[in-house]
Parts: sequence; structure tokens; C-alpha cells
Amino acid sequence: MRKRYKAILGIMAIGWSILALSQAVDQDAAFAQRLWRLLAGASGEDYRLSWHYIPGKPMGFYQGTEPHGALLRTFVNSIAFDAIKAKVGQYPVGSVIVKDNHMPDGTLDGITVMVKRGKGYDPDHGDWFWAKYTPKGEVEVAGKVPMCSSCHARARGQDYVFSTAIR
Ligand code: HEC
Repeated sequence: MRKRYKAILGIMAIGWSILALSQAVDQDAAFAQRLWRLLAGASGEDYRLSWHYIPGKPMGFYQGTEPHGALLRTFVNSIAFDAIKAKVGQYPVGSVIVKDNHMPDGTLDGITVMVKRGKGYDPDHGDWFWAKYTPKGEVEVAGKVPMCSSCHARARGQDYVFSTAIR
């Protein structure tokens, strides 16, 4: 009897953790969709018109490296821009970095984004949220994406950002 009771508790615990996990995934997907609407804005391409190019890289297009494509443009919102200028050591919550990934012929291939979330979101990887969109804004990956964070960990000394210095 006691054994059965424990087994039921165990199954319930597994059920709850699967539920919690799927809720976290749903939240990341919803966040990614809200983020896209913010990026696109009223103009349909707001960040390209009103954000800053990332300091430390050429303004406009520049030659890319794998895996991000042949031609890149990288934009930051003003929270990230001010932090980079002031070399505050870590990106503040709300920092957003957007990279347009283009193919050699110039066609836009995808949009990759990093968003600094609140403390505790993903403490082992700098609390960054990662997302990749198709040019039309369909979410390909979103959330705590090991594929993104494991490579960007090479730039951990600059808070996971390769292109510019934050300290
Ligand atoms: C194999 C390594 C690697 C992987 C995997 C990778 N990146 Fe990057 N990422 C880079 C490098 C290197 C740069 C700098 C490229 C440049 O601008 O020349 C970069 C730049 C960026 C930038 C601009 C900020 C910065 O760090 O300079 C964003 C945003 C970004 N990546 C998002 C992503 C997202 C989202 C994913 C996962 C879907 C991802 N990356 C996967 C290596 C990687």
C-alpha cells in the first residue's frame, strides 16, 4: 500500500515537472512573438530604422563569419547602446541585440536576437534569451537555446557578446 502511494506521488511529481517545463516553453514562445511585434513596430522594420548599429562593428553591412552568414548587420536598442558606451561590465535587463543574417547574394536569411532577461532566467548563461526568426517573423527557436549559448560562451568575458566590449 505504502509502495503504491509512493509510486502515485512519484508519477504526480513527474507530471508536474513536465507541466512546468511545457509552461516555460510556452512562455518563451509567447515572449518571442511579443518580441517580434516590438522589433517590427509600426513600420514593419522598426529596429532597422530607429536603433543603433552595434559599436565596434561597421555601420551597415559587414562581412560575416559562420554560423551567422556572409553579410551581417547588427543593431542594439538604446539600453544596450548606453551600456556599451559606458562600459558598465554587464548588459542591463532589457538590452536587446538583433542581427540580420544575409546570404552571399544579399538575401535576408534569418534574424537572430539576444535579450537580457531578469536575474534567475538562465543564471548559468548570463540570463540571456535567444531567438531565431525567419525573415517573415516565424519563430525557429526561442528561449534558453543551448545551441546559441554554448558557442557564445566563448565570449563569456564580454557577457556572451562577440562583437563589442562591455568592460
Ligand atoms: C558556432 C558559434 C555560434 C553559434 C552556434 C551562434 N552564434 Fe551568434 N555569434 C557568433 C559569432 C562569432 C558572432 C559575431 C559575428 C560577427 O558579427 O562577425 C555572433 C553574433 C551574434 C549576435 C550579435 C551579438 C554578438 O554576440 O556579437 C547575436 C544577436 C547572435 N549572435 C545571436 C545568436 C543566436 C540567437 C544563436 C542561436 C540561434 C546564435 N547566435 C548562435 C557565434 C555563434
